[in-house]
Amino acid sequence: MSRFKAITPQDRPTFKVAFLYRSHALISRETFITFQKTYDEIVNTLVTCQDEDELWRFVRSMFDFDDYADTVPINAANLSITFDAVQRLMNAMALDWNRDISIQKRIQPYVYTIQAARELIAKQLNVDPKLIAFMRNGSDPNAVINNGMDFEPGDEVVVWNENHPTNGDVAWKIRKERFPNINIVVLDLEGETNEEKIIEKFLAKVNEHTRIVTFSEVSHLSGMRLPAKSLIAKIHEQNKDVHVHLDGAQSWGAFKHDLKSIDCDSYCGGSHKWFLGPKETGILYMKTKSVPKFWPKDIGYNGEMQPPPTLPGDKLPVDASRFEMVGQRNDTNLMGLLYTADLMELIGFEKIERRIKALTMRLRDGLEDMAPEVGNVFEIETPEELSQYHGILTIKFVGEVSSELNEFVYNKLYQDHKIGVSTKKENRMRFSPHIYNTEEHIDRAVKAIKYELTKIHRN
Ligand SMILES: Cc1ncc(COP(=O)(O)O)c(C=O)c1O
Repeated sequence: MSRFKAITPQDRPTFKVAFLYRSHALISRETFITFQKTYDEIVNTLVTCQDEDELWRFVRSMFDFDDYADTVPINAANLSITFDAVQRLMNAMALDWNRDISIQKRIQPYVYTIQAARELIAKQLNVDPKLIAFMRNGSDPNAVINNGMDFEPGDEVVVWNENHPTNGDVAWKIRKERFPNINIVVLDLEGETNEEKIIEKFLAKVNEHTRIVTFSEVSHLSGMRLPAKSLIAKIHEQNKDVHVHLDGAQSWGAFKHDLKSIDCDSYCGGSHKWFLGPKETGILYMKTKSVPKFWPKDIGYNGEMQPPPTLPGDKLPVDASRFEMVGQRNDTNLMGLLYTADLMELIGFEKIERRIKALTMRLRDGLEDMAPEVGNVFEIETPEELSQYHGILTIKFVGEVSSELNEFVYNKLYQDHKIGVSTKKENRMRFSPHIYNTEEHIDRAVKAIKYELTKIHRN
């Protein structure tokens, strides 16, 4: 008997929710049937596909952009495209729901969708669903961390200097205007790539006054991946009361996560980057024991569509729902998030991890080989040790006109070669391929950069 037979589309959470929508006449017969046909085809193909090349060809077909008529995205660190099937279902649902927005229709299926999405994502991260709150993006959960804690004079917060502004000294300085007690300690690893020394540098900043240590699992700037698990264990060993916040905006979806094992006190990310989810969705995970340390930054209806608790009789929740402000929002997003989580799981997080790494390594090799041919006008900034990078590769242009050169190539890539990448910090260019990319996209990007730089080099 085939080991694949255990998975049937009708048993999957996305199908169950879509069926519930149809049962409540929330979506039209046509929307349901179109969804069902596509979903059956996708699930059956994904569970029976045994050849990885064939798998990636099929996965590529799940995204709607054309290789030449549209821009090839190599910019997942900023924003990814959504699976075509997910986007189409969301569009159809939006049109259907616009014909009847009555509460009677929405409340039960809507709450059910949130719970189904929460359960699936929590299972993927190996945590209790109660400890996951849905957020709007990656900035939103970071704001819970930098906005929620009360500080006593002398309290310290340690931030890595490669953190995103919403989680680094930029955000914390804004908070300090309101909570002058916070002492912000910024850590610069100064190019250190030795794991033990990285840990030592962090530990040198942690003392009995430290309340929070917060860092990106993967830097959105250099692409450096920190040894999260060992780092967190050592920080807790030094001071067990420190809250360690792991910003997973550049890691959630890009590789497999077991948050219980990583043992961070909180973790977050927007789903519209590496998780390939709908725009304006994200998560915050927080350990039960940490929840009471943070005030909710928003007050609103919760995921059960219930009003906020009336203090003092009614207490604030002691799980992540404390931070989940639902209110009115784009209901289709939650179905989109559930559908995406389902597809990501069916493709397989280990396979996704391998594919992203392989594409990034191919890009690295291509750029490394090409650099001397164009006069070494750029260097690769992302650490080369395999465990210290994943899906982000950053190059740094050097020389007097490095920023102009960077901008020139960035614009040329987009305008003349239809390739979308990102620039960071003036003379840096950032690439971040994902499973919708092919080897040909990567080779085309390398060739295009070589072509543009060769023209300049010759002149
Ligand atoms: C590490 C990190 N944290 C947080 C964010 C903010 O995420 P979002 O743009 O989803 O609000 C980003 C965005 O690039 C990021 O790279």
